[in-house]
Amino acid sequence: MSRPKVYVPNAIPDEAYRILAEHCDIRYRDTEDPVPDDEVLAGVRDADGLVIYSRVKVNQAVLDAAPRLRVVSNIAVGYDNLDIPALTRRGIVATNTPGVLTETTADLAFALLMAIARRVVEADRYVKSGRWDGWRPSLMVGRDVYGATIGVVGMGRIGQAVARRARGFDMRILYHNRSRNPQAEEALGAEYRPLDDLLREADFVVLLTPLTPETTRLIGARELALMKPDAYLINAARGPVVDESALIEALREGRIAGAALDVYEQEPVAPDNPLLQMDNVVTLPHIGSATKATRIAMAVTAARNMVTALAGEVPPNAVNP
Ligand code: DGY
Repeated sequence: MSRPKVYVPNAIPDEAYRILAEHCDIRYRDTEDPVPDDEVLAGVRDADGLVIYSRVKVNQAVLDAAPRLRVVSNIAVGYDNLDIPALTRRGIVATNTPGVLTETTADLAFALLMAIARRVVEADRYVKSGRWDGWRPSLMVGRDVYGATIGVVGMGRIGQAVARRARGFDMRILYHNRSRNPQAEEALGAEYRPLDDLLREADFVVLLTPLTPETTRLIGARELALMKPDAYLINAARGPVVDESALIEALREGRIAGAALDVYEQEPVAPDNPLLQMDNVVTLPHIGSATKATRIAMAVTAARNMVTALAGEVPPNAVNP
């Protein structure tokens, strides 16, 4: 029996490559550089499987170019880059990599929170600029994280992992989620709030929802206006969960204290985006899951998902069962 063909348009760790190579013939593009759309279309022409990072979009045009495609394995927990209804209509299995990146992404979300609260990035820039002329009582004063109120929007795996960290800081934990999470309430002392109430009460609003039609622009001008003027917005989810123009406006007018962002409406973020000029905004380049061990674990999980699905079995992380 001939081996299935898998297209892998970006470099993946050797550990994952080996798993795929054992079972499949691989068309491999050994670079992290973005894949031009026409290369994706050519690459999927005879592919049974596609292993991708979330930067590659799988839309109707890609599906039309891929008559044999049976499995799409996303090396990410989020899968808003996949047109799931279109894949499902074609009977194509889609998979993601939940679990293996939970703690790593929660670490980064909490790092964003700490960094914006204590002005870590701003202070670093200040020292390196050579302007520091000695200790002053009012220099780079921030706000306390210990004992503050955190509002977690999206109490899934990563939301709960962030809440566990917040407990260590004796924070009051509020959460909002599609449905209530009794386990988080009991184990973490988290209190459920309707979104508007959470926004009114939290000192740190941390966004950790997947990007879906329901969460697109979940936080707009109205929601930002509900936040306290000394509260911070942290987005470690997906850029389009926030209306970025409304956020820029709210920051310009001092309606919230600051923001810490790992994700943007457009990625890479444009160099002239006003957010990049604001001292009270921390900007990271979408690195929530970026540790060596986690990136390997994600790719290995994706490779296993692919091999299992191509063998006709239900993969552990199918998102359209
Ligand atoms: C994820 O796993 O969803 C990360 O954000 C990478 O896209």
